[in-house]
Amino acid sequence: MIQSKTLYACPGSGEELNFSDTGFSTSDGRRQFPTVDGVPNFLAYPSIEDGEQVQTLIWLNEEARTKGWEASLRAVYGKSSGIYQYVTDEQRAAFLDLLPLNDQAVVLEIGTGLGQITAPLAERCKLVYGLEVVPGQARFTGERCRQSGLTNVLVAAGGDDCQLPYASSGFDVVICNLVLEWCAAREQRIQAEAGQRQFLSEAFRVLKRGGNLWVNTKNRFSLRNLFDSSGGRTDDGKRTGRLRKVLLSLVGKNRHDGLTHSYNKLTAMLQEAGFRDLQSFWAAPEMRCPTAFIPTDPASVRAARQAGNLVQGDTRSTRLLMPLVPAPWVKLVMPGLTFLAKKYESGEI
Ligand SMILES: C[S@@+](CC[C@H](N)C(=O)[O-])C[C@H]1O[C@@H](n2cnc3c(N)ncnc32)[C@H](O)[C@@H]1O
Repeated sequence: MIQSKTLYACPGSGEELNFSDTGFSTSDGRRQFPTVDGVPNFLAYPSIEDGEQVQTLIWLNEEARTKGWEASLRAVYGKSSGIYQYVTDEQRAAFLDLLPLNDQAVVLEIGTGLGQITAPLAERCKLVYGLEVVPGQARFTGERCRQSGLTNVLVAAGGDDCQLPYASSGFDVVICNLVLEWCAAREQRIQAEAGQRQFLSEAFRVLKRGGNLWVNTKNRFSLRNLFDSSGGRTDDGKRTGRLRKVLLSLVGKNRHDGLTHSYNKLTAMLQEAGFRDLQSFWAAPEMRCPTAFIPTDPASVRAARQAGNLVQGDTRSTRLLMPLVPAPWVKLVMPGLTFLAKKYESGEI
C-alpha cells in the first residue's frame, strides 16, 4: 500500500514526487509516473518483452489474484519446472542471514523477479522497496507479498536506464542478487559496462552512510564457465560449443550470461563507485542456490574444506576440479562473485 510519504524520487534528477490516485509526478507536472495495480512505473523506455511473455505474465497475475500466487505459478509454469523451483525454493534466500537486517532496517531489493527473495526479506525488516524492470513481474511480487500478509513492501517497475527512482541516503541495505550481469544488458541505448557502473554509483547514492550493498553475480572466469559440459548459447540464442563460449566470454561478447567480470575487475568497480570494506564470499556449490557462504580469504577456504561436508561444485567437472584449486585462487574461479560492501562518506576511512 503506497502512503503519501515515500522514498520515491524522480529518476535522474532526484526531485521529490507528489503522490495522487493516479501515481507520482514532479511538482511542475512535467514528469508523470502512473501507478498500475499499486505499482508505480518509472521505466524510461518501452518494454522489450515480446507479446507472448507479456501475455504469460498477464495470465500469471490473473491466476494469482483468483487462485493464489503459488497455484498460479503451478498452473502457468508447472510444478516440476525450473522456474517454479527457482522462485519457490526458500533455501535461495539463505544469504539474508549474512546481512545486517532487523526490524528497523529499510531495504531496497533491485531485480525482485517474482518475489522469491522479497517475501522472506520483508519478514526480517521494517520496510522493503522492490524494483523490477519487468512490470508484470513487479506486479506479481506485490501480489505475492500482499497474499503473504506482508504490508511493508513497496514494489515499482523501473531500472531500465540504470537509474534508481529513490531519494539519496534512505536505505540501510541494497540487495542486487543475480541482477548486475543483466542490469544494462537489455537496453541497446545503454552501454553495458557504463550502465553497470552507473547502477553501482546509484546504489551508493541511495544507501545511508554506513549502509551495506549485497552483490551476487556470475564470475566471468568461473571453472563452471570454462568446463560445464553444455557449452551455452550466444546473444542470438543459438547453441554454441564450450570453447567458443569461453572465447566469447573472454572478450565480453557472451551476452547470454549478461555482462560478467573477473573478481579483480568487480572489486575495482565497487571501489570506484565509492564502496569500502569489501567482504567477499564463495557461494558454494554455486551462486544461484548456495548452501554455504565461505569468506574467500585462504584460511577460511582451507577451514571450510577441512570441515569435510562442503560441496564444492554443482557439475561433475566442477565437483572434481574445485577441490584441487589452491585456496588463494578460489576467489578467482568460484562460480559467482559475491560481495558485501559498505558505504562510507568520502574521507571517512
Ligand atoms: C536472474 S533474476 C534474479 C531475481 C532475484 N533477484 C533472485 O535472486 O532470485 C534477475 C532479475 O533482475 C531483473 N532486472 C534485470 N535488469 C534490471 C534492471 N536494470 N533494473 C531492475 N531489475 C532488473 C530481471 O527482470 C529479473 O527479474
